[in-house]
Amino acid sequence: MTVVLKLDAEHPQAEVIDQAASVIRAGGLVAFPTETVYGLGGDAMNARAIQKIFEAKGRPADNPLIVHVCDRAMLDLVAAEVGAKAEALIAALWPGPLTLVLRRRSEVTEAISAGLSTVAVRMPRSPIALELIRQARTPVAAPSANLSGRPSPTTAAHVAQDLDGRIEMILDGGAAQIGVESTVLDVTSEPPVILRPGWVTRQQLEEAIGRVDVVATEEELKRSPGTRHRHYSPRVRVLIVEANSPASIDRLCWSLLKVGSVGFIGHTRVDIEHPQFSAIVLENSVEHYARSIYSALRELDEEGASVIVVEGINEEGEGAAVMDRLRRAASSIVDE
Ligand code: TXA
Ligand code: MG
Repeated sequence: MTVVLKLDAEHPQAEVIDQAASVIRAGGLVAFPTETVYGLGGDAMNARAIQKIFEAKGRPADNPLIVHVCDRAMLDLVAAEVGAKAEALIAALWPGPLTLVLRRRSEVTEAISAGLSTVAVRMPRSPIALELIRQARTPVAAPSANLSGRPSPTTAAHVAQDLDGRIEMILDGGAAQIGVESTVLDVTSEPPVILRPGWVTRQQLEEAIGRVDVVATEEELKRSPGTRHRHYSPRVRVLIVEANSPASIDRLCWSLLKVGSVGFIGHTRVDIEHPQFSAIVLENSVEHYARSIYSALRELDEEGASVIVVEGINEEGEGAAVMDRLRRAASSIVDE
């Protein structure tokens, strides 16, 4: 049985946080909201809890987890070396949607990092997440709280769809504010490299520490094993169309309707009346896309669409993170 407890996102009730923290301290798993997506938390210093996270998600053992901390002091329990650039980023951008890859302390179980000598750490800014970690008095490992390969959860209901009966508790703090995962930056290389684009943009990083590269080569990708797997993805086929003319989106949807049901997610209004067509119309803004995209993919997937057409958005700034996730959802070449 998974217990679901509701709480206020800005002023979380102390007694609810206490209950959740004791589950973590006892080696159990609690899903909780962060400002990006819901995470599936377990005690980062407890090897058995880490194993349970991999089992509950069905996550491949070669895909490492992010460790969440509530203050700068806690970082020293998991990271061996922080360095000037990481300190500058922490001062400028924590708490927030930025994950730093640092050298791992040997006390931290290797399984967290899938055997790598590094560890990924972030300090979330959601009050529920921060209070939970503080009360648990231990760093909390937390991947997104979805079954491996499914879209990340942005509500407690999404978490329950995937993990009900597999974990001890879900904290329901309403919809996640941002909706896409954190930026993952490897600061063990020079210049630092963005392994996964996220809500913190390359420009923000460069304002804090100067030059930052974006992961480009296969060799570099090996350092973020998770990005090789099929991710963020509904069960059905996803097609991306670039910001396009309404007429061509219409034509594409009509031709796909000849072979099955079609879902559409985009900011262009599509005038198709057909029992096998359903559309979710979003505002043409990166904030609204980020907040809505995973939920929209899940909804059309549940409705049984055989293909989902998604209209892309401008890739500047935060748009890079949204388009990255859409491409992964649409990709058929990555391994699962
Ligand atoms: O916003 C987020 O980051 C959310 C919330 C819950 O904090 N978490 C999240 O975790 O997205 P997850 O496990 O779904 O994604 C973790 C990403 C993967 O791409 C993984 O490969 C990468 O971080 N990662 C973790 N540890 C790493 C390491 N030591 N070196 C390189 N990449 C690492
Ligand atoms: Mg994930």
